[in-house]
Amino acid sequence: MARGAKRKGASSARPGGRSSGGANARRQQFLTRAARVFDVPEGVAEALMSQGRRQSLRFNPLAGVSRSDFEAEIAPWGEALIPVDWCEGAWHLDLAPGEALPDHLFSSGQAFIQNASSFVPALALDPKPGERILDLCAAPGGKTSHIAALTGNEAEIWANDALPARLPKLNEVLSLLHVRTASVTAHPGQFIDRFLDGPFDRILIDAQCTGEGMFDLRRPVTLRYWSMERVIEYSRLQRKMLMAATKLLKPGGVLVYSTCTLSPEENEASVNHLLSHAPDMLLEPIEIAAPGLIPARTRWDKESFDPSLTMACRVSPSRFMEACFVARLRKDA
Ligand SMILES: C[S@@+](CC[C@H](N)C(=O)[O-])C[C@H]1O[C@@H](n2cnc3c(N)ncnc32)[C@H](O)[C@@H]1O
Repeated sequence: MARGAKRKGASSARPGGRSSGGANARRQQFLTRAARVFDVPEGVAEALMSQGRRQSLRFNPLAGVSRSDFEAEIAPWGEALIPVDWCEGAWHLDLAPGEALPDHLFSSGQAFIQNASSFVPALALDPKPGERILDLCAAPGGKTSHIAALTGNEAEIWANDALPARLPKLNEVLSLLHVRTASVTAHPGQFIDRFLDGPFDRILIDAQCTGEGMFDLRRPVTLRYWSMERVIEYSRLQRKMLMAATKLLKPGGVLVYSTCTLSPEENEASVNHLLSHAPDMLLEPIEIAAPGLIPARTRWDKESFDPSLTMACRVSPSRFMEACFVARLRKDA
């Protein structure tokens, strides 16, 4: 048989031993779940998860350039910049192919590109100057830098990420964006109470997750690493991180838990686990007027969650927003 020719009946092998049949089944399994998560028909879920998403731009006030000077500089691109009316100093980018903003805005740290959904967790955290704040899963630093910007670099920020290999990038972003940190560490979030001393006024857990919100079903590689085993593995890790971080939160302090994934096992179920094991943790509403924010689920499969979970929210995917999940909790004072 000629090299590269396929034997009759043989499945087309993929790296890692996964077959295209397996890939199709995986895609279908994901699609069925996505449709159930958003309570829509599968065709609608497929369209929702097959969008090319546009990025957004966040002005960084820590770079020493005034907002008015920055706005004057980006004014020539005015038509391609749509102000994000629920996040100060941010614009959705609607640039034409080949069109770009000047490089120096990014190399000087005046501007940072993020998906607009990433603005929601930092805004929900509502950090204040003078507070002690822990960002448990910080790399590459998008949300840490947003927290620093929101506090005018006047908070004591502890940026942690368990993967030492991701620390150079985290440090690079923090330095580029002029972020002042109290400490940058590489501790496992699930044991953070053994490594850091509390209490913290606010804690962000932008958790390691299956990243389903970033999937684009038009691209076959999108589900390359996805499996239910991974969903369950991460949900276990997330529960442990929530429990450990809560021990470091001061009474009256705020914890925001976010993921960029759809799976209820990693979202509502993780928060529900915390609520049932830490009765002093209570959900609070998220008062952000972002489009596509919908209440989190109170049921999934055979499981019912605490009714207060409707205060947590999901972002329904759209042109500028990736699907994500955000919950804001307060420790009873
Ligand atoms: C969604 S990303 C965080 C993105 C980041 N918050 C931002 O806005 O740029 C999740 C991060 O969790 C880190 N991580 C994975 N396992 C972890 C653990 N056990 N404890 C703490 N961080 C972990 C990963 O290295 C990854 O950088």
